[in-house]
Amino acid sequence: MNILGIETSCDETSVAILVNDEVKVNLVSSQDFHINYGGVVPELSSRAHLQIIIPLLRQALEKLKLSIEEIDLISATAGPGLIGALLVGLTFAKGLAFSLNKPFVPVDHIEGHIFSAFLQYGNSELIKPNFPYLCLVVSGGHTLLLLVKSDLEIIKLGTTVDDAAGEAFDKVAKMIGLGYPGGPKIQSLAYNYTESNLISFPVSKTQNDYDFSFSGLKTAVLRYVLKEYGSREKIKEEDKPKIAASFQNAVVKALTKNVEKALSNYKVDSFALVGGVAANKFLRDELAELTKKYGIKFVVPSLEFCGDNGAMIAYRAWRLHLAGRKFNYEYNAYPSLKENKLIVPEL
Ligand code: KG4
Ligand code: ZN
Repeated sequence: MNILGIETSCDETSVAILVNDEVKVNLVSSQDFHINYGGVVPELSSRAHLQIIIPLLRQALEKLKLSIEEIDLISATAGPGLIGALLVGLTFAKGLAFSLNKPFVPVDHIEGHIFSAFLQYGNSELIKPNFPYLCLVVSGGHTLLLLVKSDLEIIKLGTTVDDAAGEAFDKVAKMIGLGYPGGPKIQSLAYNYTESNLISFPVSKTQNDYDFSFSGLKTAVLRYVLKEYGSREKIKEEDKPKIAASFQNAVVKALTKNVEKALSNYKVDSFALVGGVAANKFLRDELAELTKKYGIKFVVPSLEFCGDNGAMIAYRAWRLHLAGRKFNYEYNAYPSLKENKLIVPEL
């Protein structure tokens, strides 16, 4: 089965084609111009998706020497994300499916990330998680600790009570003058800091054991900066790696702590780390170490599939299709995560 996956929830337009569970092509066009604004401008994002989506689809089809009629299943992200941006991909995909009389599958972006742990090119012997698995989703908009029991049963153990992990990276990067997107910039600065004395930034406690809170950490960094330098503009360039490394360490320790609690309470043989922040090397290394201690499989997608991509949308659509889920062309975009509803409802 040839599956088309379209992702336009934020600042990446992505078109992928899978043959069943094998990724054949995954094209990602990133909207770099948001750098000039220090963050994503929703209207500009929608317009850019609109301009690139058809050329990107053409390019993907050409690469595989396929015609659009040879696509068997069409999918797109329905939410959560920027509503205007989502509407571009979703409406395009629905129109395409309707005109070609092909089945259409709307995919939840978070579900896409959760199942990105299975993505691979070709059919190599990739390490894949076994159900039930614990999964940490860390993206720009969401931080979720989940128990994935099956394709259609995902239990939310914890979430963030304020900022998402990626959002914290982006805000702190902006605060110390590193620009957008902050995650990779903080990581590379932190990498240059080889000394062991870190600033101890406190991470707020939450009521629920598995929840996260990163807003207090962001304020702690700001307080430190104001106390040491008087203003954000006066931070010494040579001090930035230490601030970046200390902040990164605090986020990673907070994430790891909750994962460890879950690992000691749930008997699973696999753990998956997914989402944009899963690209962070320090986080990958810490969680690899932790899962080793518990003697379980550690699964993390290759860097290409950590950030937003169409392959994870197509893959999740394929699994929903196999699970017998049916959707009609009326399916609408939604901007926020549906409370306690981690699986897109049928329509
Ligand atoms: O999943 P994603 O591509 O988009 C959303 O669904 O939000 O995640 C984007 C987030 C951004 O906040 C970005 O700063 C963060 O992932 N990120 C990283 C790294 N690479 C991307 N955070 C920390 N370290 C990285 N290497
Ligand atoms: Zn994402």
